[in-house]
Amino acid sequence: MRFEASSRAAAQLRSDCLVVGAFERGDLGPSAGAVDRASRGRVRAPLARGDFSGRANETLLIADAGAVRSARLLLVGLGRRDQFNRRAWRRALVAAVAALARTRIRSAVLALERPGARELDDFYYGRSVAELTGGTLYRINDLKTARPAPRPPALQRLIVATDAAALADVRRGLSAGDAVSASATLLRDLGNLPANVCTPRYMANQARELERRYGRRLRVRIFDEAAIRRLKMGCLLAVTRGSAEPPRFIVLEYRGARRGRAPIALVGKGVTFDTGGISLKDPNAMDEMKFDMCGAATVLAAIDFAARSGLRLNLVGLAPVCENMPDGRAVKPGDVVTSASGQTVEVLNTDAEGRLILSDALNYARRYRPEVVVDFATLTGACVVALGHHHSGIMGNDEALIQELVQAGVRSDDRAWPLPLTEDYGEQLRSNFADMANIAGRDGGAITAAAFLSKFVAPMRWAHMDIAGTAWMSGKEKGASGRPLSLVADFLTRRAAA
Ligand code: BES
Ligand code: MN
Ligand code: ZN
Repeated sequence: MRFEASSRAAAQLRSDCLVVGAFERGDLGPSAGAVDRASRGRVRAPLARGDFSGRANETLLIADAGAVRSARLLLVGLGRRDQFNRRAWRRALVAAVAALARTRIRSAVLALERPGARELDDFYYGRSVAELTGGTLYRINDLKTARPAPRPPALQRLIVATDAAALADVRRGLSAGDAVSASATLLRDLGNLPANVCTPRYMANQARELERRYGRRLRVRIFDEAAIRRLKMGCLLAVTRGSAEPPRFIVLEYRGARRGRAPIALVGKGVTFDTGGISLKDPNAMDEMKFDMCGAATVLAAIDFAARSGLRLNLVGLAPVCENMPDGRAVKPGDVVTSASGQTVEVLNTDAEGRLILSDALNYARRYRPEVVVDFATLTGACVVALGHHHSGIMGNDEALIQELVQAGVRSDDRAWPLPLTEDYGEQLRSNFADMANIAGRDGGAITAAAFLSKFVAPMRWAHMDIAGTAWMSGKEKGASGRPLSLVADFLTRRAAA
């Protein structure tokens, strides 16, 4: 996709299709009004005839655009004018791009009304246009054999009509959003691949691939099982024990700033398939546990974004990657294992495996003395119970860092919400047999999981994002969402500028 911005009148721009919006009740905004005049009433006519109502999600393709320079018009419903906000605009844009993707249209001019600058400034407007367009054009790399395979969307060029004052910021935003969407595609592809393809070794090869692509700025190290043993990562080894697939510990070091600057460490849970192990999961929707590596994929995608954008900061990406399987050799409830930190853990439930592998990776992060460390994990069903699928959960030991991430989520429409991680929760992890247990009962499960992680992070400033409810969609829309890459990209971009 190529994104451009132009300050010429939308009707003067040449493309296969000019995209305009209409509110309910035939109400036209300034942009659509100008196109209506230039096209000699082509926008108002279908509204007057009742062929188009302006309701949200409605679109109408008009083959004859009259006197405008684009060959066609696409009318898009914006809903009620008094309810038009950032969310309604996003919905309209997605409907427009989805409609374009059903045609062979290759280029389009975007002249939808946009929400007020207070709600969405010029930069984030451009960023959202590129990101939403890229996200809507995304297609799962499926393994369907039907012939002929459906053709990918033809849309290749989107020209955003905007006023001259906004041009520079919109352009910067478009290019940022384009980078976010490219890296989100990597995240989604990794998530969507079946677990028999996307194994720990596959994830490691993907990291190597990034190293090849970004050359000197990115160094990748892969630890195999023997090397993981030398690191004394007893928790990661315990989780992988039941699996025939060998584990990997992936380390990515991105250098975009001077050598002495402390890095930001990003850690991601990479369970390529989570059966629960001996504490076996219910078979219902177990297939979705192929998405249990989305934290690790978020780390790869974040590094990809930083390298692609040339962000001026240093990053360390850490991804412990393995399967969680039941087997004669598998770790059992009650087993006590020794983490790389030296602390012992009683594994009361083998399905609480994410915190185990993360604890060894978080402990490893300490050697970099990072500015901050943020981990990403599809960690608990309890987080989904607490927050549903709209917000990721955020916890940590540093209120300013948590707020920084929350605000990055607000700006990028990739929201996260804090849960209270006070000392009380950590006390629930008491064990009679080891320094701690890996579970603490059902109540407050998202927070007790974070409390477990907190025992491996001192003295680092740390935040934990539970993305169990946001990393993928279920049901008819089943597939990786690309979240929380947009939030992370914004967080890193701001840190680089600071
Ligand atoms: N990967 C799961 C969490 C999960 C479950 C994410 C369902 C999304 C949907 C994690 O490894 C897990 O199994 N957690 C347990 C923890 C429990 C045993 C304390 C859970 O949430 O049930
Ligand atoms: Mn589990
Ligand atoms: Zn899991």
